Parts: sequence; C-alpha cells; structure tokens
Amino acid sequence: MSGCRVGFCLSDKKRRRMNLDAFVEYCAGHGLEVVEIDLTQPLETQGPFNVIVHKLSDVIVEAQHDSKSQQLLANFQSYVSAHPSTVLLDPLPAMTQLLDRFASYRIMSKLRNSLRDWHICSPPYLEIHSSSDLSTLQQAVTTQDLSFPLICKTRVAHGSLSHEMSLIFSAGSLADVHPPCVLQRFVNHGAILHKVFVVGDRHFCVERPSLKNFPSGPSDRETIFFNSHQVSKPESNSDLTELDEQMPSLPPPSTEAVAALVRELRLQLGMALFGVDVIININTHTLTVIDINIFPSYEGVPQFFSSLLDHIQSVLDKQTPPESTTKTTTSATSSPSVSSESDYSVSSSSLHK
Ligand SMILES: Nc1ncnc2c1ncn2[C@@H]1O[C@H](COP(=O)(O)OP(=O)(O)O)[C@@H](O)[C@H]1O
Ligand SMILES: [Mg+2]
Repeated sequence: MSGCRVGFCLSDKKRRRMNLDAFVEYCAGHGLEVVEIDLTQPLETQGPFNVIVHKLSDVIVEAQHDSKSQQLLANFQSYVSAHPSTVLLDPLPAMTQLLDRFASYRIMSKLRNSLRDWHICSPPYLEIHSSSDLSTLQQAVTTQDLSFPLICKTRVAHGSLSHEMSLIFSAGSLADVHPPCVLQRFVNHGAILHKVFVVGDRHFCVERPSLKNFPSGPSDRETIFFNSHQVSKPESNSDLTELDEQMPSLPPPSTEAVAALVRELRLQLGMALFGVDVIININTHTLTVIDINIFPSYEGVPQFFSSLLDHIQSVLDKQTPPESTTKTTTSATSSPSVSSESDYSVSSSSLHK
C-alpha cells in the first residue's frame, strides 16, 4: 500500500464520531497514508488520491437551497470527474438517493420481490408530496390499505429535523402530518431494532432499543410526536421503548437472510459503506426493512477500522495506477440502479395533491 493516498472528506461531527485521527494513525501503522480533504480549498493541490472516502450528506442537502454548498459540491464533483481513476466510496448518485425517503423506500419495497425466497419485506407506505385536505388524505390511506397505527417520517432523511417523527392512531389525526413526508404502517416488533452495518463484503449486526408494540387498529389515542434518537440510540431509555406486556423473546434475524439482504442491497446500491435497520414482525416473524443509512456510525462494531482498511486495500488491489485513465469497476462514475417512477412496488403509492 506504500505510495497510496486515501482522502477523507467528512463533516466535523462525523470525523469526531468515527475518530478519524485514530484511523489515520491505524492506517499509518499499516503503511497507508490517509489525508483529510478540506472542501473549501482546491482539491487539485490536495491530491492525488487513489481513493476518497466521504460523507457529504450535509453538503448535498444544503446544496438544495444554499449557493455556498452548491459550489463546494460542484468543486468536489468536478475533481472526481477529472480523475476517473480515483475510486469514490461511495458514488455520489447512490448516496444522494438515500437522503430522500421517497427514493429509499422505493428501493426497500422492491426487496420483497428480489428477496422473495427469504420472506424479507418492508412495510407498506404512502408518499405525501404536498398538503391536501384531510378527506383526500384519509381516502388515500384507506385505498392503500394502510392500517393504523402509522408512523410518519419527513421526506428528507438527513439532519436533525429528519428524526422528528410521529405515531398516528386514527384517520382524524392525519391532520397532524406535515408534508412532504411518508406514512408507513407501524409494525410491532417487540421493541428490538437490529442494525446491520456493512463494510464492503463484511457486515455486522448490533441490537438497539426500539419502539414498543401498540395495539393494532385505529384508536382514540392522541398522536405521539418523538425524535428517533430518543428511541434507537444505544443509550436510549424512553417510555416509548418499554414494553407494556410480557412478551416471549423473538428469534434473532436469520444469518442467511441478513446475508442475502446485504448482498442484494450492495448490488442495488453499488455502495460499500451503508447500514440497514431491520425489525422482526412479532406476528409473522418476517424480517422487515425500515431504513437504509449512508456511512453509518458502526457503533458497537470493534472490527470497523480493520474492516474499512481491508476494504480500502481490496479496492487498491483492483485499481489501475492513478496516471491511467482506465476506469475501475467501482470508479466514481459508476452509477447505481435507481428505481424509476414506473417501478413502484405494489406496496407503495404516492399522494401528490
Ligand atoms: N414501520 C415501522 N414500524 C415500527 N417501528 C418503526 C417503523 N419505522 C421506524 N420505526 C422505529 O422508529 C425508529 C426510527 O425510524 P427510522 O426509519 O430508522 O429513522 P431514522 O432516520 O431516524 O433512523 C426506528 O429505529 C424504529 O425504532
Ligand atoms: Mg434508522
């Protein structure tokens, strides 16, 4: 690996969370130079890079309305385009789609078909694009056979506001939704979340607390507003995660099914660093996918540094020399499969007006 350079481009928060300084040292001990990229400075003078590992979620989301972020992103993209042999972990289009729940839920709902043999599914949902009158919304929910309770999540899947959610228990309470958002069927899962963390061809499962069970069907309960960080962080301790009843323990997700899920998502997304949140339906024991995350925390995965270094090493092994213009299979320009409008799964639908 000597002579190879890997650039890291992360927000301050992400850099602290993953302890990048320690990773830089760890790589140095294995003969690999890791440098931090400053997006505000020309990348040309900071390179060359064999690989760039990045999490530009903040910049991508802010670029939708902020010209400074647009400029930073454009500079980054033009560097990447000018250096096709630099491998980007992960490709920008693949990551960008996961910042939008409308896009990521379409990917999730296609899993039911591609992983039919494994009985893997994702809960049915409705996209709500803009405000509409209550009766139109109620009708859309009925038409889609979305039974209560429902969980409502913002369309944008990144940033502090994206974790503000609500649990809606009746048609009358649909007045509480704030589009653009998704309304997804709530699945009872015994308050256990399984976080699957993927690094290249390895993955790790970690258990986390999660929302408790709620009686199926509509009820006169008021809408519960909550922040998902209250419920599914390792340290989360909330009334919402305390089961009200004794429950026989559920089987853990099947190792083979999780491996099949990871394999399929790696293919679909063309990504190496991502996480999947899965729950087990307490009635059917079906493995149910509820979230896909870009470059997640890997909290609780002590093998993260060694796995990431191994993955970078395997990318470098396949790589052509940086001087060459030949593209590698995982090069920055490789495009992921993106589901199209006509590709809606039967379990999803959208409400535009
Ligand atoms: N369909 C669902 N049924 C039951 N619980 C859910 C469902 N969707 C989400 N949750 C709960 O809400 C939490 C946050 O949802 P998630 O979609 O993972 O959003 P975030 O982007 O905040 O991680 C999950 O960890 C889980 O506890
Ligand atoms: Mg999640």
